[in-house]
Formats: sequence, structure tokens, C-alpha cells
Amino acid sequence: MKALILVGGFGTRLRPLTLSMPKPLVDFANKPMILHQIEALKDVGVTEVILAINYRPEVMLNFLKEFENQLGIKITCSQETEPMGTAGPLALARDKLIDGSGEPFFVLNSDVISEYPFSQLIQFHKSHGGEATITVTKVDEPSKYGVVVMEEETGKVERFVEKPKIFVGNKINAGIYLLNPSILDRIELKPTSIEKEIFPKIASDQKLFAMVLPGFWMDIGQPRDYITGLRLYLDSLRKNSPSKLAKGAHIVGNVLVHESAIIGEGCLIGPDVAVGPGCVVDPGVRLSRCTVMRGVRIKKHACITSSIIGWHSTVGQWARIENMTILGEDVHVGDEVYSNGGVVLPHKEIKSSILKPEIVM
Ligand code: GDD
Ligand code: MG
Repeated sequence: MKALILVGGFGTRLRPLTLSMPKPLVDFANKPMILHQIEALKDVGVTEVILAINYRPEVMLNFLKEFENQLGIKITCSQETEPMGTAGPLALARDKLIDGSGEPFFVLNSDVISEYPFSQLIQFHKSHGGEATITVTKVDEPSKYGVVVMEEETGKVERFVEKPKIFVGNKINAGIYLLNPSILDRIELKPTSIEKEIFPKIASDQKLFAMVLPGFWMDIGQPRDYITGLRLYLDSLRKNSPSKLAKGAHIVGNVLVHESAIIGEGCLIGPDVAVGPGCVVDPGVRLSRCTVMRGVRIKKHACITSSIIGWHSTVGQWARIENMTILGEDVHVGDEVYSNGGVVLPHKEIKSSILKPEIVM
């Protein structure tokens, strides 16, 4: 089977992290976001992943070369010269997607995380005999998403409305699809939205079905949702593979610490924290609800909460970092500095406190 991941866009809502890396390569729970997807696809027998991309393909491909060999899966790019939307890229990659087997292929938005129940999706798709299966999940604020109205028993989709202005329902498109090759006959080679132009048509032909996603789901393309997403992801690890979580007297709740990270004496870490590879956390540090990416150094008695610390940054001793502070790559925060929601661009040195949420350039 094959899969196409929609990787377009500049990831502006996840700046300053996306100033250093394309969004799909930004670490989430100690691993580039897109690797969570590729590994899950590999597990259900996908042999080739096509990245539909309109921005810096060489960075992506270089990075993923290593994982191509490690995972034994083919990773290729289909590059647009102009943004083709969410359906156009399928038409562009037509020759790669059709291999004569007639098998359906997966399509994923690159910024969604879940337990990726792909084998259930395959089973459901085979059982209903329609042309396309999408997955749906319930959210409190459906207007930011594609809303789906479906027949409860069969899953047949009656309506698909992208970003509705009035209330239509609370089940939304989770951005994870399994599609028959025949869907390619519905898509022209031009910028097209799968949500606005293709799904509504398949629904009116009564050939669009939806599966309610078991487990958690989150679009992690914005800092607040990224931090919430980590909490949900770690909760699900606790249920499904608790041995991956950190243990010890200094750990509170669900925490992921990379095996190469060093944690000093007398720290208190958690809940909902990820500490990445090669990090050095000095004695007496307090971390909660935060992500500390690869190669970060946190000095004695610093306190970090509800924040993201980008690659290879340092946080000084007695510093206090909180309230959605996002440090880009290689940022250096001085001793005793306080940051209340600072968003700091890569390679900056911060010597005085940031008292209210603002961008530091
Ligand atoms: N290759 C390519 N080219 N990819 C693109 C392009 C493009 O021109 N435009 C968007 N994408 C990719 C994005 O990178 C993302 O992975 C996916 O398509 C969806 O685009 P977003 O910009 O993240 O859309 P959204 O979050 O507002 O809405 C979509 O996702 C929701 C779930 O998170 C829709 O699919 C909604 O229906 C859905 O509910
Ligand atoms: Mg999105």
C-alpha cells in the first residue's frame, strides 16, 4: 500500500520553531512529527510514503534518508511549483499513487496526531464498499475544522462542510483518509481543496464514509494545541506502553525522558513533559507541561512550565519560563531571567525579563 502526506505550507503558526525546520520535522514527544505517522503507516504494511511538498524538499529528504534505511520504507517527494491545495497534490502524484494493484491509499494531513488506527480504517473501508473513508473526531469548537454529518449506524456521510459559519454538528474531519484510486478521476491538475470541492461531491454520490477515531486526536500546528497534544499523547502512552514513560521519585505524572538525557539530583519533572536527546538538566530544576528539545541545557534551579524550549538552547540558573514561552533554536536565556509568554526567535540571547507575551526578535 502507499500513502501520501500533505506537507505543504510554511507552518507560520508554529514559529519560531518552523524558522529552523519544516513543520513536519519539528520534534513532538522526542521525534519529528512526521515520523510518528510514517512509523504507524509502516506497521500496517505501507511500502512507500509520498510527501506532497511545496517548500524546501531537500531539507526533508536529507533528513528522512536516515529513517528510510532504518525503517525499510521508501520515502519520495512530489513537489509543487505553486500551492495545489489539499486535493491538487493527489492529481500531481497520480502516477506514483496508481500502481496497478487497485488498492486504496492513505492520505494524511501532516499536523495531526492520534493513535493512527490504520488497520481498523482498512477493515472499515473494505466493509462499506464506498469510494472514500475519512476519520472523524468530536471537538468543542467545530467551526475551525471540516464538519461531518453522518448516519450513526453505517457511517455514511450525508454532508461535509468545511469551516462552517453556523453550527452543523460537532464531529469533525480528523485529516486521515483511505481513498480508492478512482477518486483521482474526480480531481483535476490544478489548485483544489479536497474538503470544499471533492468530499462534498463524493458524499452526494453516497460514496463517502466516516469512521469515528478511537482514542485521542489533536491538530498540533499551534503552540497551545501542541502542548495539549503532548498531554493527550502521553496519556495514551500510559495506557498502551507505560514502560516507555520515565519512573522515579523525581517524576510526577506522565513524562518522557530520552535515554541520552542527563537529569541532575533533586529535580522535579512532570506532569506532561518531554525531555529530548542529549539534554542536560542540572540539579534542582522544576519542569512541568513542557517540551525540551534535543541538546538543551537547563541550569540549576530553573523552573519551566507550559512552554517549548527549542533545540540547543540554554536556560540560566534560577530562570523562570512560563505561559506559552516558545524559545527558537539556540536561544540563550540568562540567569534569573523571567519569561512570561515570550516568543523568541532563533540564536537570540535574552538578558532581561520578558514581562508580557511578546515576540522577541
Ligand atoms: N502539498 C500541499 N500543498 N499541502 C498543503 C497545501 C498545499 O497547497 N495546503 C495545505 N496543505 C497541507 C497542510 O500542510 C496540512 O498538512 C494539510 O494540508 C491541511 O492544511 P491546514 O492548513 O493544516 O488545514 P486546516 O488545519 O485549517 O484544516 C484541515 O485540517 C483539519 C484537521 O486538522 C482540513 O482538512 C479540515 O477539514 C480538518 O478538520
Ligand atoms: Mg491544520
